[in-house]
Amino acid sequence: MTNSITIRRPDDWHIHLRDGDMLAAVVPYTSRIFARAIAMPNLSPPVTTIEAARAYRDRIIAAAPADHGFTPLITCYLTDHMDGEMVRRGYAEGVFTAAKLYPAHATTGSAHGVIDVQHIYPVLEAMQACGMPLLIHGEVTDHEVDIFDREAVFIERTLKGLVADFPGLKIVFEHITTAEAVDFVNDAGPLIGATITPQHLHINRNAMFAGGLRPHAYCLPVAKREKHRLALRKAAVSGSSKYFLGTDSAPHVVGAKEAACGCAGLFNAPHALESYAMVFDEEGALDKLEGFASLHGPAFYGLPVNAGSVTLERADQQVIAQCDHGALNVVPFHAGETIPWRIANVTYA
Ligand code: NCD
Ligand code: ZN
Repeated sequence: MTNSITIRRPDDWHIHLRDGDMLAAVVPYTSRIFARAIAMPNLSPPVTTIEAARAYRDRIIAAAPADHGFTPLITCYLTDHMDGEMVRRGYAEGVFTAAKLYPAHATTGSAHGVIDVQHIYPVLEAMQACGMPLLIHGEVTDHEVDIFDREAVFIERTLKGLVADFPGLKIVFEHITTAEAVDFVNDAGPLIGATITPQHLHINRNAMFAGGLRPHAYCLPVAKREKHRLALRKAAVSGSSKYFLGTDSAPHVVGAKEAACGCAGLFNAPHALESYAMVFDEEGALDKLEGFASLHGPAFYGLPVNAGSVTLERADQQVIAQCDHGALNVVPFHAGETIPWRIANVTYA
């Protein structure tokens, strides 16, 4: 039995770091372990300009302890009225690492998102031409479509057409939750990758209703049936370079989760890497963890792998019930559970 594993320092290719006091509270959980993270742009207002992206990057850097050597990577929030030349310039200047497509009203902070992908075709042309990745929240917003089917329907109604129209565009299908998404990504060419969250590898939809309503198991895309969880696990541990780590850690204060209309989003940053390690261990695939966490993402984005390393060891640790940030307390994923891996060491260079 493997009791310790050292991997190259990983990156988080999809995270919500928020802003202001919440940003200050949550960044260290991530920067302590991950060398880089793709910061999602669904702030209020969203990050839609080069200036806003530079300023947000500076705020994240200021919030991260300097000795963590953490590099935030900023994304541009696409709207119906985006200027492709501005997006290209932001990428060329190294300010935008990618652009994020939120279908309007699909999730938290997506009200300014894209109503019809046809509206952003000129932007996608520009992105394809310069090699800039498109990150997609892949759910239809049609309320006639059952919430558990919105990802699979998005593939049919939107994603297949998009890939056909932009065969040279790099696309990350973010936080995939279904066997249909796994099939789609497996069958697609090398320019199509996907991130997978820890929660979608651990829980199925029953977790939201286990003995009562469980708001801390609610995120978007919502967890699906068990067969989908199993398909995601298989994909994550397969060793395929199309799949990489993206936590989708999305903190909301306790009161915003435990409410009559609770917010979508799980806060998994405190123990994200241990959470993934549990899954790879259970699948007998600890040797595949480094690829998923530290190698496939940089290869997809055309970035160097990190210096530094993280050592995980098999040792029980109790996850606290709440992360205490004063007025901004957040319940972490695995709250109250004992998890069988812990971080033993991190080297930053
Ligand atoms: C995210 C958030 O809270 O910003 N919520 C979530 O459930 N994942 C938005 C998103 O990524 O959908
Ligand atoms: Zn997200």
